Amino acid sequence: MAFTKRILLATTVAIAFAGYANAADLTVGFSQIGSESGWRAAETSVSKIEAEKRGINLKIADAQQKQENQIKAIRGFVAQGVDAIFIAPVVATGWDTVLTEAKEAKIPVILLDRTIETASDDLYLTAVTSDTVHEGKVAGEWLVKTVAGKDCKVVELQGTVGSSPAINRKKGFEEGIASASNIKITRSQTGDFTRSKGKEVMEGFLKAENGGKDICALYAHNDDMAVGAIQAIKEAGLKPGKDILVVSVDAVPDIFKAMSEGEANATVELTPNMAGPAFDALKAFKDDGKAPPKWIQTESKLYTQADDPKKVYEEKKGLGY
Ligand code: AHR
Repeated sequence: MAFTKRILLATTVAIAFAGYANAADLTVGFSQIGSESGWRAAETSVSKIEAEKRGINLKIADAQQKQENQIKAIRGFVAQGVDAIFIAPVVATGWDTVLTEAKEAKIPVILLDRTIETASDDLYLTAVTSDTVHEGKVAGEWLVKTVAGKDCKVVELQGTVGSSPAINRKKGFEEGIASASNIKITRSQTGDFTRSKGKEVMEGFLKAENGGKDICALYAHNDDMAVGAIQAIKEAGLKPGKDILVVSVDAVPDIFKAMSEGEANATVELTPNMAGPAFDALKAFKDDGKAPPKWIQTESKLYTQADDPKKVYEEKKGLGY
């Protein structure tokens, strides 16, 4: 986007959202997806901690994985006249109407951990997310390096259908392995980001692939599905991490436990602290009236067996997720 256009957009957004309560005593409504994964539970608890640190009154609505519940919650927050609304959007599309309602009520919206497809990106103030395409790419590149030219059939456990991380992590992984004709994704199905679905779908993959003997690697869009799949691999009489390589995303404590036991190989970290940068952006916006950048990117770090997974597990296990 041209510089002048950016300035214009920033000014428009600032004018559109001007006139909120002072930074102290802010009330923020957070439409959370649910509790499908360990990472999600961590994001909810970290959000509460970050709000408390800043004296912000945070109201969390659990949507139980349903967009319609999120839309209801957002309308409820608008009716209550909260100072800002945070949304972790379960899917990428279908937000324009409700976001227009929030905008008309002059309530700024900040997206957390997932992005949306919208007709106009001035319907939200900023998005605090990782680069989910990059996460998939890092996982794919790790696999290319690890199998070093050997033929490798990959099974993929996708996240929630229509969600931005599922779309992007798939795309990124395909980019990551594009240069390696020895690596092929042979099966790909959603496990909905849950441990139980990850296990169930992996059981099907194992049956369909010669009891798992034809599978070289599992790529899961999150650690919880990987942990469920690891259980399925063990029940099929194979060794996860050895007979079938396991690479996933999130870096939750349980995957480090699996890595320390040699049952998983790599994970790409996604910080559960999306709310902290969002509160800071909101406060700065209120204090100086300037719109934050449209994307506040969080870091993604690859962890492998070389990173002392036992030590990382010990450090992370007390963090409540
Ligand atoms: O949007 C982030 C993803 O949602 C996490 O990777 C996954 O665990 C969660 O359910």
